Amino acid sequence: MELDASRGTDIAIVGATGKTGRAVAAALDGVAVVRRLSRSAPDYAVDLETGEGLVEALTGCRGVYFIAPNVHPDEPALLLRALEAAAAAGVDHVVYHSVAWPYSPRMPHHMDKARCEEELRAFGSERGLHWTILQPCAYAQNFEAVLTGSSSLVVPYSLDTKFSFVSLEDVAEVATRILVEGGDIHHGATYELGGPEILSVRDVVRLVETMTGRAVSINSVGVDEWMSVHEPELSPDAQQRLSAMFEYYNDRDFLASCTVTATLLGRSPTPIRALVL
Ligand SMILES: NC(=O)c1ccc[n+]([C@@H]2O[C@H](COP(=O)([O-])OP(=O)(O)OC[C@H]3O[C@@H](n4cnc5c(N)ncnc54)[C@H](OP(=O)(O)O)[C@@H]3O)[C@@H](O)[C@H]2O)c1
Repeated sequence: MELDASRGTDIAIVGATGKTGRAVAAALDGVAVVRRLSRSAPDYAVDLETGEGLVEALTGCRGVYFIAPNVHPDEPALLLRALEAAAAAGVDHVVYHSVAWPYSPRMPHHMDKARCEEELRAFGSERGLHWTILQPCAYAQNFEAVLTGSSSLVVPYSLDTKFSFVSLEDVAEVATRILVEGGDIHHGATYELGGPEILSVRDVVRLVETMTGRAVSINSVGVDEWMSVHEPELSPDAQQRLSAMFEYYNDRDFLASCTVTATLLGRSPTPIRALVL
């Protein structure tokens, strides 16, 4: 994959030091000049709450990959701040990291992503900015510990809920293609990114046990019990948003097709078994 250097080469990743951002930055490295942005990023320290540092960090970039902090209380405000800065900096193309099924009224953080998608479409039309939306399903790497050696797993929802787990590395590879090919090709597109299998947590654990011979204990606990352990590290708003998601997962599957993922990768998406060590 080669970048058309006449449009500038730098690509900024907002949220580059988080789980998703690190994967996207690793995939883009060597293909484009990558600018890593976040509050703790050593080269491009920015704050989405205030807008501090954003215009300077984005000036000279042709594309921006926007990743919001997980379960933020007001994701649309953060996105709008970044879009204003991108427009002021002369950025050509913004790629928004959304989620599969953004319009899910029972999950406030999904609904915020639905609002962000609409803000992005409106901003693009009014301000002449190219945009693309990626909608990944749940990452396979959310279970990285159990895929790579842990012998126990506790989740606050049903072990039998089905997901189309997508590899985060596949998502990052797709993001790289979209950013490199840019707004001329991908402007106005919304791509749903599911993985190649429909599996429950129980299915994933059985697969790990069969492939490795390692016994893994799995346990589904109530949302309140899970929260009582994790409460200290979460704001009250984040607790509410995560609880709503777990309650949703307790009685609904969360699925997405891998058709678009495969097309954009130009190969079959990664199955869970390829991530088991
Ligand atoms: N996990 C999944 O299966 C999945 C699936 C689809 C979509 N998503 C979405 O992916 C997104 C990212 O999730 P993640 O787990 O990668 O998040 P994460 O690891 O918590 O990373 C969040 C990033 O945002 C930065 N950040 C936080 N507050 C900031 C601020 N005020 N200004 C600038 N940067 C800030 C963080 O760095 P600093 O703290 O240094 O600022 C970090 O780089 C979420 O919106 C989530 O909904 C996740």
